[in-house]
Amino acid sequence: MNTCVVGLQWGDEGKGKVVDILGEHSDIVVRYGGGSNAGHTVVIGDTKFALHLLPSGAVRPNIVCVIANAVVVDPEVLITEINGLAQKGITLDGRLFISENAHVVLDYHKMEDFLREQSLGKGKIGTTVRGIGPCYADKVGRSYAIRMGDLANLDDLRTKLESVIEYKNKIFTAIYNAEPIKAADIFDKCRYYADRLLPFVVDTTEFLHKSIAAGKSVLFEGAQGSLLDLDHGTFPYVTSSNSSTLGLPAGCGVPAKLIDRYLGVAKAYTTRVGAGPFPTEQDNQIGQYIRERGHEYGTTTGRPRRCGWFDAVAASYSVKIGAVDSIALMHLDTVAGLNELKICTAYQIEGQRVTFFPANIRRLAKATPIYETLPGWDDDITSATDFDRLPVNARNYVGRVEQVIGKPVTMLGVGPKRDQTIVRC
Ligand code: GDP
Ligand code: IMO
Ligand code: MG
Repeated sequence: MNTCVVGLQWGDEGKGKVVDILGEHSDIVVRYGGGSNAGHTVVIGDTKFALHLLPSGAVRPNIVCVIANAVVVDPEVLITEINGLAQKGITLDGRLFISENAHVVLDYHKMEDFLREQSLGKGKIGTTVRGIGPCYADKVGRSYAIRMGDLANLDDLRTKLESVIEYKNKIFTAIYNAEPIKAADIFDKCRYYADRLLPFVVDTTEFLHKSIAAGKSVLFEGAQGSLLDLDHGTFPYVTSSNSSTLGLPAGCGVPAKLIDRYLGVAKAYTTRVGAGPFPTEQDNQIGQYIRERGHEYGTTTGRPRRCGWFDAVAASYSVKIGAVDSIALMHLDTVAGLNELKICTAYQIEGQRVTFFPANIRRLAKATPIYETLPGWDDDITSATDFDRLPVNARNYVGRVEQVIGKPVTMLGVGPKRDQTIVRC
C-alpha cells in the first residue's frame, strides 16, 4: 500500500501527526517537495518533535526516510535535525537516503529571500525566509544551481561557487545595497556539509523503485498545502514548488499510478500564514479564540497564524486536483466551546454563486463566503476514542463536512498527541 498524505489548505493542517500515525504500518516515508519552510509536529507522550526536512517517519526508529529530488535541502537545518534526534536517542544512520539531485539551500539563498521580502515592503509574500524561492529559482535557471551530488566533488564545487557568488554579489550590492558575501566562507561550510551528509546521498529514484517492486509500503509526506501550490494555488501568495499531490511524481520519480491512496489533511477550520487572500478569515474574537485554543503559531517561524471558518470550496478544490480519497480532519477539539460553527459552502462573486474555487486571486479577492451555520458543543473531547461517543453536534459537524466535500472523514484529531486521534476505518 503506497499512500500520499497532503495538506488541503494553506499548510499546517497536521500532516506530521497523520504521517506519524500511518508510519506504524509503513516501511518508508518520503518527503517529495518543499524544504525547511515546512514545520511538521509530532507529539508522542510529553515529547514534541518539530521536523523541517526529515520526513516525520524519522521519529520511528525502524522507518527508512527519503528526501527526494525535488526537496530543497538546507544542510545546516538537516544536520541540526539529525543531531537533535540523536540527542533523543534516535539515529538516522543507515536509514536516511537523500537524493543526489536534490538542490542545496545555501546562505546566499536565505539572504536573497530576506532582502527581496524587505524591499517589497507591504507587497511582500510573507515567506518563511528560508531561501526556498531563490533556491528553486536557481534550479529552474540551471546555471547557478548546486545539487547534493555536487558535494562529492569539492574541487569542481569550489570553482562553481566562485562564479555563483560573483553573480550573487552583483545582485546583493547593486540592487539591495547589501554587503557582499565570501565564496571561501560558503565553500568551507560546504566541506563540512559534505563530510556530514554525503554518507546519506544516493539515487533515491532507483531506491524507491526497487523498494516498491520488493513490496515495501511507502508513505509520501506532502509539505505545505495544496492551496500553496506554485501552479494551482493562490499565486503569487504560494510557495515555489508543487505542494499538492501533483508534485509527487515529479518530486520523487514515482508515477501517480503507483499510489494506492491519497489522504487529504484539513483542520476543522482554516489557517494561513503570510500574505494572500483568505475568504473565510475571522480577524476578530472568533479567530483569536481559535488561535489561542489551537496554539496557532508557526512551527517554523513562530508567526501567529491567521484563522477562519472551514472553507469547503477551497478544500473541495484541493480534493479534486489532488485525487484525494479520504480526509483526516484535525483540531476538532479546538472548536469546542463556540456557540455555533460555520462552513463556507459557496462564494458569491460579482452576483454569481461559485462553488469551484477560483485560484486566480483577482477573482478570489472578490469572493464573499456563503455560510451554513451549525450548532457547536461545549464538551471537552480531547480524551475521546470513539466517534459514536462524541457530542451529537460534533458528529453532525463532521458529517456535514463529509457531505459538502463528498469524501469520508477517516481520521479525526482531538488533540496534538499521537493517541488523540480517532481512526474510523
Ligand atoms: P503540519 O505542518 O501540517 O505538519 O502541521 P504543524 O505541525 O505545522 O501544525 C499543526 C499543529 O497542530 C501542531 O502544533 C500539532 O501538534 C497540532 N495538532 C495536530 N493535530 C491536532 C489536533 O487534532 N488537535 C490539536 N489541538 N492540535 C493538533
Ligand atoms: P508545512 O509543511 C504553512 C507559506 C509561507 C508564505 C508562503 C511562501 O508546515 O505545512 P516560502 O518560504 O515557501 O517561500 O513562503 O508559503 N508556507 C507555509 N505555510 N505551512 C507551511 O509548511 C509553509 N511553507 C510555506 O508562510 O506564505
Ligand atoms: Mg507546519
